[in-house]
Amino acid sequence: MTSRAPAEEAETVTQSGGTAVPRHVAIIMDGNGRWAQKRGLPRAAGHRAGAEAVRRALQAAADHGVEVLTIYAFSSENWRRSAEEVSDLTALMRFYLERELRTLEKERVRLHLIGDYSAFGPELVERLERAVERTASNTRLTLVIALNYGSRAEITAAARNLADKARAREIRPCDIDEDAIAAELQTRDLPELDLLIRTSGEVRLSNFLLWQAAYAELLFLDLLWPDFDEKAFAGALDQYAVRQRRFGGR
Ligand code: FPP
Repeated sequence: MTSRAPAEEAETVTQSGGTAVPRHVAIIMDGNGRWAQKRGLPRAAGHRAGAEAVRRALQAAADHGVEVLTIYAFSSENWRRSAEEVSDLTALMRFYLERELRTLEKERVRLHLIGDYSAFGPELVERLERAVERTASNTRLTLVIALNYGSRAEITAAARNLADKARAREIRPCDIDEDAIAAELQTRDLPELDLLIRTSGEVRLSNFLLWQAAYAELLFLDLLWPDFDEKAFAGALDQYAVRQRRFGGR
């Protein structure tokens, strides 16, 4: 992945009223717990409804011609939740993979993973990797699932890899530039992040794609993740299209 060239990129973005479609959209899917609480349901029911919203978001992204959809399914901080909730989320992931693999194949969606997903144990790792393999040649859309992902850990690992390469004299310290760091990140083969959405009204990035979001448009929506649908996705793309992206220039 190369650093965004501001002038070049700005040409591809329309001014107010334009119809530019972001190539890469990322979503912090927040509000499952509050959605469940409002209905007097257990948190697991909120996560299940959240998984349905993932299906809708994926379909909407494909229909709108988005190339990459990255979703924050499990952060490295989520381990602090109760053992029961972690187990519910893991079970849901397993269920989703089983049920959705055929849809991914039918819709020509490639699955890609970021984060240290080895923490979920050999059985889920095997299922995840099988799904990645089976969808590897699909080209309509890439669904990136962030699992046990933390942006600071990702950047730290990149710095460590570059330090190792410098010590081994494969590179010189002066070779370490933005492109070199980006090339060590787990998103290296993906297009630049254009639009980052967070639901539930919280206005923070929570250690998600901190480097990648440097020039992304940020959109904070008031609705809870299980209520996210095609209309919300289309509305987000509309907001993206009318924003004037300057990349620090005028
Ligand atoms: C945040 O809501 C959401 C999560 C921690 C997990 C996201 C998981 C899903 C949407 C479902 C499973 C994903 C896949 C790919 C099948 P929260 O629980 O923090 O909500 P709250 O802030 O209202 O408590």
